[in-house]
Amino acid sequence: MNHPKKTEIQPKHSTLILAQTLDFPEPDTIRHRPRAALIISQGRIVWHGDRSDLAWSKDAFAECHDYGDAWLLPGFIDCHVHAAQLPVMASWGTQLLDWLNQYTFPAERRFEQESMADQENARFLDQLLAHGTTTAMVFSTVHEQATHSLFAAAEQRNMAVVAGKVLMDRHCPEYLQDTAQSGYDASARLIDQWHGRSRLQYAVTPRFAPTSSEAQLEQASALMSRAKGLYVQTHIAENPDEIAWVKALFPWAKDYADVYHRYGLLHERSILAHGIHLQPAEWQRLASQQARLAVCPTSNTFLGSGLFDFQTAATTGVSLAYASDVGGGTSLSMLVTAAEAYKVAQLGGHRLTANQLAYGITQGNARALSLEAEIGTLEVGKMADLVIYSPAAKPLLLHRFDCAETIEEQLFAMLILGDERCIEATWVAGDRRFAVNGGSQKAAGSHY
Ligand code: GUN
Ligand code: ZN
Repeated sequence: MNHPKKTEIQPKHSTLILAQTLDFPEPDTIRHRPRAALIISQGRIVWHGDRSDLAWSKDAFAECHDYGDAWLLPGFIDCHVHAAQLPVMASWGTQLLDWLNQYTFPAERRFEQESMADQENARFLDQLLAHGTTTAMVFSTVHEQATHSLFAAAEQRNMAVVAGKVLMDRHCPEYLQDTAQSGYDASARLIDQWHGRSRLQYAVTPRFAPTSSEAQLEQASALMSRAKGLYVQTHIAENPDEIAWVKALFPWAKDYADVYHRYGLLHERSILAHGIHLQPAEWQRLASQQARLAVCPTSNTFLGSGLFDFQTAATTGVSLAYASDVGGGTSLSMLVTAAEAYKVAQLGGHRLTANQLAYGITQGNARALSLEAEIGTLEVGKMADLVIYSPAAKPLLLHRFDCAETIEEQLFAMLILGDERCIEATWVAGDRRFAVNGGSQKAAGSHY
């Protein structure tokens, strides 16, 4: 690892964290330091190595946090989640289109009220942090003000967040509709104010093809040239009724992916959620355009949408991201998301390794968002977005850990059996933003 020279580090102005460290630079590489030290200065990792190689005593640092044997990991990244949908989670008995009409649209309406949006956006981001997620790609609602509020709340927490105002000018209740022009204007103001500010980025966000007119998709396309580095986020091929509807609404299109392609919305900064029922030509198109699919397994089983085809993703070379898709999804935890991805892959005869999954929710998702220079691993120079994970919160998991013979075995148990109860602390840009019991439980000594 490329350590800055000792003289460049000023312990008096730095934070020292002691723990076991694990990160996953590639799908087949685990880096594990059982007795590690990490030094943070000005929000970034400036030193990462074995405790025995540390050139200073603990007392030399402005702050020292000793997490004992707990694991220190890169913060988790969620590549598709809806800020307004916490109250939609666990809504009974519907599939996608009815679920949207019956539960989701009324819930999103609440964000027209500024005070509600402020309160709920803060709750949403704090819940992400409590689940160990430090970066997310987020759907706001159709409301401009609620989207300003989301960006402001993310900035307050210094989180790297990619988000956008939903564009939706048809086939939804009138109370949630914008127009091609008003959607363009509001998005342009949001881009001008937030894209590239602090750690924030903007995603042009047509909800999905059925709720945008062709005029609006045209405007979405035009928005892409408003600034460099803009993202696109939307949904694709989640549910058979949705796909039939797209076919009827866009008779000229070869398939669902063709609708987005026609409007220049498929490229390496596009993240499309689901892709459960893609046709061979659509897989090829996504691969050739380098668009990414966000795999949302808890949502796909909960809404009865179907099982993601990991095998075809692997053979076509489409890049994958992992995502909770809350509120269709049933957990904000990227550990739970990884566990469900594993099970869905199993059902399709495909085996994902612990390394692939842990990479997927950290460095893989960082790469999916083109943010790997900043986040995703524990390398010197990256932002100190960190998670402290301890199996001690779940006695059964602790026992499983004790019985494991390799770090890979422990990692797999962590992914399959661990959840947000195992998140002891979450750090964002070198500041601790979440801690069990507000941090009153002193994090020191051996945890298991
Ligand atoms: N398709 C269009 N909107 C949504 C949404 O909010 N959630 C999910 N899962 N799919 C969608
Ligand atoms: Zn979604």
